[in-house]
Amino acid sequence: MSEPFRIGLLGHGTIGGAFDELLLERTEAVQAVTGRRPEIAGILTRSRGDFDDILGRSDLIVELIGGLEPAREYVLRAMAAGKHVVTANKQLLSQHGDELWDAAREHGVQLRFEASVAGVVPVVRVLSESLAAAHVDRIHGIVNGTTNYILSEMASRGCSYAEALADAQQLGYAEADPSEDVNGKDAAAKMAILARLAFGAAVTLSDVSYEGIEHLTADDLAYARELGLSLKLIGTAERTGEGISVRVHPVFLYGSHPLASVNGPFNAVTIESEAITEVTLSGPGAGGSQTASAVLGDVVSAMIPPPSLPGAVHRLPIVTDVTSAFYLHLEVADRPGVLAQIAERLGLQGASVKSVVQRGLGENARLVMVVHPILESRFFAAVDLIGHLDFMRSPPRAIRVIEEEF
Ligand SMILES: NC(=O)c1ccc[n+]([C@@H]2O[C@H](COP(=O)([O-])OP(=O)(O)OC[C@H]3O[C@@H](n4cnc5c(N)ncnc54)[C@H](OP(=O)(O)O)[C@@H]3O)[C@@H](O)[C@H]2O)c1
Repeated sequence: MSEPFRIGLLGHGTIGGAFDELLLERTEAVQAVTGRRPEIAGILTRSRGDFDDILGRSDLIVELIGGLEPAREYVLRAMAAGKHVVTANKQLLSQHGDELWDAAREHGVQLRFEASVAGVVPVVRVLSESLAAAHVDRIHGIVNGTTNYILSEMASRGCSYAEALADAQQLGYAEADPSEDVNGKDAAAKMAILARLAFGAAVTLSDVSYEGIEHLTADDLAYARELGLSLKLIGTAERTGEGISVRVHPVFLYGSHPLASVNGPFNAVTIESEAITEVTLSGPGAGGSQTASAVLGDVVSAMIPPPSLPGAVHRLPIVTDVTSAFYLHLEVADRPGVLAQIAERLGLQGASVKSVVQRGLGENARLVMVVHPILESRFFAAVDLIGHLDFMRSPPRAIRVIEEEF
């Protein structure tokens, strides 16, 4: 009989508890695949267990504490002691990833993190293994289930952001404090991790610009429907001529885009590369048992030699001004010449209009237009000029549009 494979479990909350249960349930299956019987060597929580003792008795450490410290210290110490590490910690990887990957390389151990991005959707594995030699041009992702649920509800029921958020909280799709989900920071951390994998570049959370969904209204979704668009919080990581751009914004998608039909608390990622055209992966983005299953998948991979080590990164410039199409929503006084003046301001910056919907609102009118792709700085310069016109009844509202159709 071979020696058991001993797992030190740090954290026993939603994911740690689910992982503990799943491991017990799947022990025979893991043994059948790897030839070794997995067992929990010790569990660390705030009130239980001792880290050094658990480390000494473990072959591998699973970190499910979350946050930066003491998770960072424990992960570094585990790797320095020659132990493989599996983690679901997006905060830690997106802010201290380079330090951790350097330590993994230095000590010849594996650092696996499938559950840190898009729950059970195996995007980390696909990028780091299946597409490791592909030249990835772009990734678009719905990587936050809370915001996707809220936007789906606003679109299907016509309810307000606040109502949809309250529903999400009641159903357990949103935390009591949902700020990092709804302001885009959670998705930004995940996109930093994906960008690093896709481009082999050192990207951290601070390189990712992000915007949330708090300011979106049911009106935006209603008008979008008329234009054949659906609204999502999309993370984008792409190569540009000069470097790479990584960002998270509310974005309109045309109906035929693979992410347009991803509704509810689901996650999905499209990976684009000339050689493969486009691959889309989708599935549940969070939840105890689903995330625990991604963690267990990483444990099984780490148990099967030879270990694959993360490659060294190189530096690529982070580009912040990129090209995008836009949806522009304007409330104006309903009088002659208004459209011409708006078109002139757009034209001054080189923006051209693809489609317009106009609605009368008594003495005012609402103009909703889609503008062809333009450098973002030029578009916002035009919006600034339009915002100062005396017939404007409220500040212009702009949302990016992804035009690609597959
Ligand atoms: N929840 C999800 O759906 C989900 C999805 C994907 C990824 N993740 C990631 O999975 C990780 C765990 O999340 P979770 O939802 O399971 O968190 P959680 O329910 O809050 O559990 C955290 C666990 O860590 C322990 N812990 C906290 N601080 C500690 C410390 N200083 N020393 C020792 N133990 C400590 C807690 O101990 P006590 O029991 O004593 O409080 C608890 O057992 C995070 O990185 C999160 O981002 C979560």
